[in-house]
Amino acid sequence: MRATIFGTGYVGLVTGTCLAEVGHVVTCVDVDRQKIEGLKNGNIPIYEPGLESMVTGNHAEDRLHFTTDAAAAIADAEVIFIAVGTPPDEDGSADLQYVLAVANTIGEHLQRPAVVVNKSTVPVGTADKVHATIAKALAARSADIAFSVCSNPEFLKEGDAVNDCMRPDRIVIGSDDESAIRVLKRLYAPFNRQHERFVVMDVRSAELTKYAANAMLATKISFMNEMANIAERVGADIEHVRKGIGSDPRIGWHFIYPGAGYGGSCFPKDVQALSRIAKSVDLDAELLTAVESVNDRQKNHLFDLMVRHYGSADALRGKRVAVWGLAFKPNTDDMREASSLRLLSHLLDAGAQVTAYDPEAMDETRRIMGDRHGFELAASAIDALSDAHCLVVVTEWKQFRAPRFDRLQSQLKDAVVFDGRNMYDPEEVEGAGVAYYGIGRGRSV
Ligand code: UGA
Repeated sequence: MRATIFGTGYVGLVTGTCLAEVGHVVTCVDVDRQKIEGLKNGNIPIYEPGLESMVTGNHAEDRLHFTTDAAAAIADAEVIFIAVGTPPDEDGSADLQYVLAVANTIGEHLQRPAVVVNKSTVPVGTADKVHATIAKALAARSADIAFSVCSNPEFLKEGDAVNDCMRPDRIVIGSDDESAIRVLKRLYAPFNRQHERFVVMDVRSAELTKYAANAMLATKISFMNEMANIAERVGADIEHVRKGIGSDPRIGWHFIYPGAGYGGSCFPKDVQALSRIAKSVDLDAELLTAVESVNDRQKNHLFDLMVRHYGSADALRGKRVAVWGLAFKPNTDDMREASSLRLLSHLLDAGAQVTAYDPEAMDETRRIMGDRHGFELAASAIDALSDAHCLVVVTEWKQFRAPRFDRLQSQLKDAVVFDGRNMYDPEEVEGAGVAYYGIGRGRSV
């Protein structure tokens, strides 16, 4: 089948590439000429394991095309995806200007009946707006061409996006148009093997499903961070508590890891947008507000632990702090809403010197931090420790899992580790003569 995808961000690029991988002919459209030229030459704008070889392979075999020519890309597409960004506007609602601009472009250039699919995370009711926008643009050129607008939310995780896309746990299709549903089922048939993954529903339910999934996951994290803070104060260890509750299948092991707060391009934005959606229908979504504020507070937590250890924020002046991990989570170079940024800003404001290292997010950090006074990047995790008084681990990259604690003891002038992801065994660290602070580990306070 022939599919066109608007937007070559995470969702668009990964979806387009995976559709090409199973044999469809895919055209990815973006307004960013430089990005498109780069993609044609195999330059992938994001770090995503496994993606690069799939992009270049499918491009070379002529199944995956990149263009800025929207008109040509629309002309012969059977399915047209909208996968452009929906950044938060001033009040936290999702800004639909890019989605509706694409809808207008589709209306201006549609030549044959097509199924238009909203893949971006969009407020409930957006499919109707997209439909109206396309219809208006078609009417303006007196064109009478059948089209349908469906919702098909995306559930991929950065760092594991290719796998999530090739082996989805569900394929949600929101539509009440039987023929459009048939078209999408045909398109996704190669991903629907072994067991049934299609979940078909009305458009609005599909739109809400996406927000509900992310809000539920964010709620689990904030809940665990809240428990961690309680554990810390009552002298309990949240890691024992986590193991004690995760084995209950109703709770489950996933997304119950406390830490330095959730970040990324989805949870913070989507929880906020869902609150706005609730507000727009006169509902005060108190739970969502709490999820957000617990997370906001959690992003200060590592710094608070440091202040507790050193006695005051002032005592951090002149200290050299080694920071391991900057990306909002491992296996990505994405720094959006990363907890590390909050920590860096607190440390630099307090007059500390920071030497940081991340396996992938160095360029991105350089771009964001510029030449901020007191901040530098190290060439390796080990180099970051040079001259440092203490170490803070913010992102749980695999390579940070097993440091030599005896070496840390001799290298770190104040012999103290702040573990923002509970990667280490406190007894092992302390056994090597290094003071240890984790998240919700009351025994160490
Ligand atoms: C998230 C969802 O997991 C995807 O299902 C969804 O499709 C995606 O948003 C989206 O809407 O596009 P992503 O933002 O890539 O994916 O990252 P996650 O792996 O969910 O992690 C989000 C944040 O939560 C990270 O900062 C991570 O460190 C934090 N986290 C995660 C915790 O603090 N504790 C946990 O137990 C799990």
